[in-house]
Amino acid sequence: MSGGGDRRLNLVFTPGEVQDGLLREATVALVDVLRATSVIPQAFASGAMRVIPADSVEHATGLLASLDRKTTLLCGEREGKKIAGFHLGNSPLEYTSKAVKGKTLIFSSTNGSAAMMRCLAAPEQVLASFVNATAAVERLLDTGRDVLVVCSGKLGRAALEDAVLGGLLVERLLDREPGFAADDASQMARTLWRRWEDDVPGMLAASSHGTYLASLGFAADLEFCSRQDGVRAVPVLKDGRIEPEIRPAAQPRSQAST
Ligand code: MLT
Repeated sequence: MSGGGDRRLNLVFTPGEVQDGLLREATVALVDVLRATSVIPQAFASGAMRVIPADSVEHATGLLASLDRKTTLLCGEREGKKIAGFHLGNSPLEYTSKAVKGKTLIFSSTNGSAAMMRCLAAPEQVLASFVNATAAVERLLDTGRDVLVVCSGKLGRAALEDAVLGGLLVERLLDREPGFAADDASQMARTLWRRWEDDVPGMLAASSHGTYLASLGFAADLEFCSRQDGVRAVPVLKDGRIEPEIRPAAQPRSQAST
């Protein structure tokens, strides 16, 4: 454990490691780089109104029955492909303003939405990825609460891309608030970030899910998900719904500190 402050910074590499005790006190930084927490900021940047996570296809279609079909879309994937009968899959390139502006999205994916459902006991979850990293860090700093970084992983196993993004969040949070008491898993993730910080596209291509998505023809998604800070939208999950917070453009550090 580093740093002696009273804010704790913890990280888990899979949702299976989440302990309820940690959840209740913390703001969760929910991470699924490929692709759920890259897609949802993009959906909000394209004008979507809200996103409702669902932990199964049945749950998703059940939710649709209680909502306005004209303004609600079913979105999500299984095995990386669009779910049969759904309006959109899980490629960020599908979430254009033509497709999602003004819409409510019911969202179900294999790992990302499952991790969100596992963490519903937390007061709030901030969805983070490379595309909104800086805005997400600012939002996490603002809460004043402990932070629990939850990596969605892949089918219950650790995923390289989530751990590396988790490490970026740890590095930035400790940079801005050295008093955070960071656990060993946070330190391990930080080391991974330092290993890959100069080659995020290479890291995504080397990851097992990145390799799989490329084999399905989604190489362009990897390029999109590797772009840092392309989006200022910070999706925040509270009471089962995800709403966007659009953060003002960050001041470069030097100006901010003068
Ligand atoms: C997931 O939630 O498992 C991922 O987002 C899956 C994917 O997009 O391929």
